[in-house]
Amino acid sequence: MVEAIRKSTREEREKWLKEAFYNLFNLRSEYVYIDLLTDSGTGAMSDKQWSAMMLGDESYAGASSYLIMKDAIKKLFGFNDFLPTHQGRAAENVLFSVLVKEGDLVPGNSHFDTTKGHIEFRKAKAVDCTIDEAFHPTLYHPFKGNIDLNKLEDVLKNNPKEKIPFVIVTLTCNTSGGQPVSMQNLREVYSLAKGFGIKVFFDSARFAENAYFIKIREDGYQDKTIKEIVKEMYSYADGMTMSSKKDAIVNMGGFIGFSDRKLYEEASVYNIMFEGFVTYGGMSGRDMNALVQGLDEGTEFEYLETRIKQVAYLGERLKKFGIPLLEPFGGHAIFLDAKRFLPEILKEEYIAQTLAVEIYLEGGVRGVEIGTLLADRDPVTRKNRYPELELVRLAIPRRVYTNSHIDYVAAAIENVFERRSQITKGLRILREAPIMRHFTVELDRV
Ligand SMILES: Cc1ncc(COP(=O)(O)O)c(C=O)c1O
Repeated sequence: MVEAIRKSTREEREKWLKEAFYNLFNLRSEYVYIDLLTDSGTGAMSDKQWSAMMLGDESYAGASSYLIMKDAIKKLFGFNDFLPTHQGRAAENVLFSVLVKEGDLVPGNSHFDTTKGHIEFRKAKAVDCTIDEAFHPTLYHPFKGNIDLNKLEDVLKNNPKEKIPFVIVTLTCNTSGGQPVSMQNLREVYSLAKGFGIKVFFDSARFAENAYFIKIREDGYQDKTIKEIVKEMYSYADGMTMSSKKDAIVNMGGFIGFSDRKLYEEASVYNIMFEGFVTYGGMSGRDMNALVQGLDEGTEFEYLETRIKQVAYLGERLKKFGIPLLEPFGGHAIFLDAKRFLPEILKEEYIAQTLAVEIYLEGGVRGVEIGTLLADRDPVTRKNRYPELELVRLAIPRRVYTNSHIDYVAAAIENVFERRSQITKGLRILREAPIMRHFTVELDRV
């Protein structure tokens, strides 16, 4: 698809920001020139995906689109059973309705916000076992999404087995900067968890980008295809939740993959209640067809290389200008290190959100805060949780922008960097929701 984008003036953007209560989620898309809010559901579908949609089977039960999707999931990931859902968080909702109870612990690597939200909503706790290297923005480590096996073992050893429904590994780890997990780590996590009789699930939104990094960074995988790598990755999991809006390159969709038939049957009850019948979930047949084609295209090396190199192109440009950012560059996004970018702003004034607002004001470029707003309040004390890193994520939609657009983004951020010493005040909250507040929070300038 080719879409028109609209330029705006600084005065217009100042006004729109005020009307949006300094929350970029509240902006109309037409007020945004280059939209890097998310890579989720914002990709451009291919000719083959659009044509596959024409063959969608919209039967309520047993549609051919469902059967095609079942075959594709079995072939790529190795799971016999699956449930379609309307997106990733719906997959979490259905699966966690079966598995997560009050007082449980769910260890993982920097759980994504909806994952954490669904765990905490059930009065359980997400325990972050990511390696310490992930929290050092400039330290090079090829797999900063890895789980620290000692941290994980501590959780598994020191708590009753019944309190730990599963371990969740996020591929790639969005919250810690789009960082991949190595095959060795996946293998070791699975073996450790098995030793304690605990299941492992993969939160799989960017599984193909993770496989790309394994191919180029991990010994022994250079000659394997992305599809072969994916197959091995999922041999170390009991199941998966998937937001298909990322690496399956569709605008909406998700699913849960299962190796355990009994768990599939239990989850089916919730799928029927929350999503739809087991053969369509929250998806139409035509969307399932596009998803199957997207899974195939999204696991082709040439596509992944082009995409991930475009992300790195933005990173290299900003780095040359001395702009502080997270390294190595993520697969789907560049993460600006807001604490070093705006050292004058107090943490109580939402450093990363302040930077995201300034970048929008400068050039109509929309990124997203991955900082204190996203980290939310502690569910017990209700105090702000201040994360180690305050980041602004610039997520690149798949197959949408050219490198000229990327040059424009870099120039806008360079302008903000040049006037950073004049940015001395942040933001304060006027109104917030009790959970996942970042989507709807209303703010004002301090
Ligand atoms: C790692 C990860 N897990 C889960 C989700 C939730 O998926 P969805 O937005 O499709 O509900 C996302 C979405 O961004 C994600 O990045």
